[in-house]
Amino acid sequence: MPSQPTHTTLESPENPLRAAVIGLGSMGANHARVLADLPGVQLVGVADPDPERVRRAIAGRTIPGFANHRTLLAETQPHLVSVVVPTGLHEPIALDCLQAGAHVLVEKPIAANLQAAQRIAQAADHTGLLLTIGHIERFNPAIRELKHRLAQGQGGRVLQIRARRVGPFPHRIRDVGVIHDLGPHDIDIMRYLLDDEVERVYAESRSHIATGNEDLFAGMLRFRNGTMGLLDINWLTPTKERTLTVLCERGMFTVDYAAQTLCFYENHAAAAKEGSYASVTEGPMTRYPIPNREPLRVELEAFRDAILAGGPPPVPPADGIAALAIAEALVRSGQTGLPIHLDQVASLP
Ligand SMILES: NC(=O)c1ccc[n+]([C@@H]2O[C@H](COP(=O)([O-])OP(=O)(O)OC[C@H]3O[C@@H](n4cnc5c(N)ncnc54)[C@H](O)[C@@H]3O)[C@@H](O)[C@H]2O)c1
Repeated sequence: MPSQPTHTTLESPENPLRAAVIGLGSMGANHARVLADLPGVQLVGVADPDPERVRRAIAGRTIPGFANHRTLLAETQPHLVSVVVPTGLHEPIALDCLQAGAHVLVEKPIAANLQAAQRIAQAADHTGLLLTIGHIERFNPAIRELKHRLAQGQGGRVLQIRARRVGPFPHRIRDVGVIHDLGPHDIDIMRYLLDDEVERVYAESRSHIATGNEDLFAGMLRFRNGTMGLLDINWLTPTKERTLTVLCERGMFTVDYAAQTLCFYENHAAAAKEGSYASVTEGPMTRYPIPNREPLRVELEAFRDAILAGGPPPVPPADGIAALAIAEALVRSGQTGLPIHLDQVASLP
């Protein structure tokens, strides 16, 4: 049994924030690695019922590992916790962390369903603790640069955003389908880049590998200002691809999330006519130099800084709830073959 460390409630750069990670699978192991070496933060414990994962996470570190997250919370009293368990467990474990007085980063999607998501957000509200959602792509340097360029009006009006997120089948994920698992990444990025809300969705989805959940999905989003969002997402592609195309009146941006690259293909005709949208011809292409950074590190730095500043959370719970509401509407549309208006989502059974 590990000895109980001294707990300090003072959150300041002189007193490192005490951090813990619950769930040490493929993503949780990365949270533990990054938190263990983040300035201003001290990793004080990790938990997972799988002893081998605990053993690997604490190897070479002088921190305790626990099989049970409640024991971890009681014995290490962390200021902040990364909740990186399967999506179906986000709610009970995030609620336990908030109840124990910890600020919480819960991985995306915020929860397995909207009701659970709202209960987590309400609990954070009641405690006054920060709750942030692990929409990690917002912290990708290529997306940050794109956001900056769109905000400056570089491309003019955005007509369409297309995301392609495909790869092999992840056999470990059983509790949700590909729309809940991968869709929230690009749904969140589209809302974030456009600063606009989705009003209607339509999806086609199929389940080819017998898990009971969809694994092949094509979705369309209509934003309030008319921008069209296209989602091409599946777990059935032998090669991994994570790309985004933002088609604007004055040209097209392309992002490769994994390579962290951003390019702009100019619409020469629009440039020649000083922005009037009369024609489209191919103009020069620019690839912007972007210093690579690990998005998870940037995300956890932002969470640390938000705690030290007393808020707001880097990705507010409302954004996690919105991404999940849109994902749920897409699942429903795929099942019924009907377009779904987002104001109907709250009343879905
Ligand atoms: N932001 C991203 O890019 C990203 C990437 C991958 C996964 N995720 C999210 O992270 C979460 C975990 O995904 P993963 O791919 O790491 O899954 P995983 O199956 O690899 O790992 C989950 C881990 O949780 C552990 N676990 C189960 N019950 C637990 C409990 N009660 N207490 C503590 N640990 C428990 C399991 O033993 C396992 O080690 C999911 O919500 C997923 O959507 C996010």
